[in-house]
Amino acid sequence: MGTESVIPIIDLTAQYNGIKREIDAAISRVLQSGRFILGPEVSDLEKEIAGFCEVPYAVACASGTDGLYLSLLALDIKPGDEIITTPFTFIATAEVITLLGAKPVFADINPRTFNIAPESIQKVITPKTRAIIPVHLYGQIADVKEIMDIAKKRGLKVIEDGAQALGARYYNKHICSLGHMTVISFFPTKNLGAFGDGGMVLLPKACDKKFSQKIKALCNHGSREKYSHFLIGVNSRLDSIQAAILKVKLKYLKTWNGKRQEIAKVYNSLLADLVTIPYKEAHNEHIYNQYTIRVKERDRLKEFLSDNGVQTAVHYPLPLHLQESFKYLGYKRGDFPESEAASCEVLSLPVYPELKLESVQRVARLIKEFYKG
Ligand SMILES: Cc1ncc(COP(=O)(O)O)c(C=O)c1O
Repeated sequence: MGTESVIPIIDLTAQYNGIKREIDAAISRVLQSGRFILGPEVSDLEKEIAGFCEVPYAVACASGTDGLYLSLLALDIKPGDEIITTPFTFIATAEVITLLGAKPVFADINPRTFNIAPESIQKVITPKTRAIIPVHLYGQIADVKEIMDIAKKRGLKVIEDGAQALGARYYNKHICSLGHMTVISFFPTKNLGAFGDGGMVLLPKACDKKFSQKIKALCNHGSREKYSHFLIGVNSRLDSIQAAILKVKLKYLKTWNGKRQEIAKVYNSLLADLVTIPYKEAHNEHIYNQYTIRVKERDRLKEFLSDNGVQTAVHYPLPLHLQESFKYLGYKRGDFPESEAASCEVLSLPVYPELKLESVQRVARLIKEFYKG
C-alpha cells in the first residue's frame, strides 16, 4: 500500500463530527431530563418519522430485528405457519420467523435488483402461507405492487423489511405505501443510524390504529398502563437517548441520501464499462445504503482493493438457505441459483455522505487498474 490513507467502507465518526454540537446538546438534554426509556423523545421521533414517511402510525422498538419479530407476533403467527421471504438478506429477516415457531420458506431473487422475485413467490405459496416479507435490499424497494397483488388474491399479509431503505421511493411513494406494515432499522450503519440499536414499525392506513397500539403494547411487556398486562409481550423499548440522536439526524436524512445518490452517479459513470453497476428500476428512487457492484472475480478484486487501502464488504457471502442455523429446513445448494450466484459476485464499495469525490475517484481508478492488470 502507498502513502494514501485508508478509505473506510463507512465513517461514522466523520458524520458525528459534522453535527457534534447538536448531538451533544440532544444527549445532554436527555441526561438532564432523567427520563431514559420511551417518553417524549421517543413519541416525538415516532411522529416525525411517520411524517417523513407520510404514514399515520409509527411504533418505535429496540431494533429492526425486534420490529420484524413484533410485527409477526402482532399478526398472531403460530407454529406451523409459513412465511415467505428471500434467502439473500441479513439473517434477521428470517430468524424471527423461526423464533415464533413458524417456518421460513425461501423464494429466489431477481438477479438484477437482488430483491425477491414475485414469480418465485407464486411457486412456493401453500395453504399454510400466512405472510410475505420482501426486503428492500441495499436501499431499493422490491416489487411491492406485484407482491401485494399476489397477497391480496391469497389473503396474505405483507411485511416490508425496509431496514435498509428509509427515504427510498417507489412510484414516487415512500416505503410502506403499499404493504400492510414496514419495519425500519436504526442500526448505526443505516442511512438514519442511532448510536446503538433501534427500530420502528410503520403502519400505512388510518384503520391501523388498534394494530399499532397492539404492537406498542407488545414492545412493553404487553401493557398499556404500568403493571397491567393484557398481552404476553417483550421488552423492546427504544431508549430516549437514541430517539434524541435520531431526531437530530432525521433533519439531515434527505440531504445525506442525496449525497449517497451523487456518489452512486459518479461511481456509475466511472465503472459502467468495467463491472455490473447497481441496476435501478425506473420507478424507484434508490438511496444506496449500499453501493453494490457485481463481478465474477469478486474475491480477487476485494483483496486488491484492501491491499490498496480501500475497505469493501460482501452483503451477503452465504444465502440463508445454506446457513447452518437453517439446515433443519432441508434446503440444499442449487435450490436458489440466483441468490447463490449473487453471494459469490457482489461487492459493496464505500458509500456515505461524507465520502470525498477524490476518494470515489480513487476507488474507481483502482478498479480500472485491477482490470487492466
Ligand atoms: C435487511 C435487514 N433486515 C433486518 C435487519 C435488522 O435490523 P437491526 O440490526 O436493527 O436489528 C437488518 C440490519 O441490520 C437488515 O439489513
